[in-house]
Amino acid sequence: MILRPVADKIAILSQKGGTGKTTTVRTLTDVLRLTGLKVLAIDLDPQGNLSDYFDVDPEADPTISDVLTGRATASAAVHNDIIPANLTLAEAELALAGKMGRELTLRKAIREVEGPYDIVLIDCPPALGLLTVNALVAADYALVSSEAQYFALQGVEQALEVIDLARDGLNPDLTWLGVFFNIADMRTVHSREAFTSLREHVGDKLFDTTIRSSIAYAGSAERAVSILDFRPDLAGDYLLLGDEVLKRLGREEARQELKRHLPLAG
Ligand SMILES: Nc1ncnc2c1ncn2[C@@H]1O[C@H](COP(=O)(O)OP(=O)(O)O)[C@@H](O)[C@H]1O
Ligand SMILES: [Mg+2]
Repeated sequence: MILRPVADKIAILSQKGGTGKTTTVRTLTDVLRLTGLKVLAIDLDPQGNLSDYFDVDPEADPTISDVLTGRATASAAVHNDIIPANLTLAEAELALAGKMGRELTLRKAIREVEGPYDIVLIDCPPALGLLTVNALVAADYALVSSEAQYFALQGVEQALEVIDLARDGLNPDLTWLGVFFNIADMRTVHSREAFTSLREHVGDKLFDTTIRSSIAYAGSAERAVSILDFRPDLAGDYLLLGDEVLKRLGREEARQELKRHLPLAG
């Protein structure tokens, strides 16, 4: 057995909002927990969508804002294995902007909390600004969620630029875990061509798994129920994505556990 003193920390990002990041963080958390891994999810978006999706009490206190401004420790801000966010994070981001070492704040703050966890997933805000840079500097891996469009490559390139920015001096060990097509309708020629084109550019950094588009995700978020329970027939997509993620992390034991839940091949 390999001893892992710290968690694998993964930031989920894209160059804009609405690409399914938050849904991915919620559902990957659920999938990874199925394997017995201990997962901490961090909401780094002032909109607090991830916190709502996990049904965290809106009055939960402290939150990630207090952690970033130094008013609370990260462990104090963990509520049911989630560090939630709310609109006060927008102010915290502004306050952070004027500080020395502003890009390192999250990295330093989560050091004391990650010990008991195997995986930490960080849900980035829609903009590639200071909060996303904080996530990337705190992370070991960056996972890019992409829309299944002709413009996919452009969006991925923008995300990669920010990943490079975080690597440059601040977090040289940051690894690009890969990019996957989210909210995709692969029945259309358009999406299939976009997939082929992206594959030509990024090779096996593009995950084989694509997450199908379904209206059910909106209902799942609204009711704060995991898609794994809300629509088990759709769960296969995220189970397979989770398997690919675990493979890239070298988490073979967890993959064995996940096998029991995977849809049969074919
Ligand atoms: N696979 C999917 N199919 C259809 N709608 C989805 C899917 N994943 C997420 N959505 C919906 O799309 C919207 C944006 O998703 P969200 O995860 O909040 O994206 P982001 O965090 O990138 O802004 C939400 O209404 C969400 O319920
Ligand atoms: Mg989001």
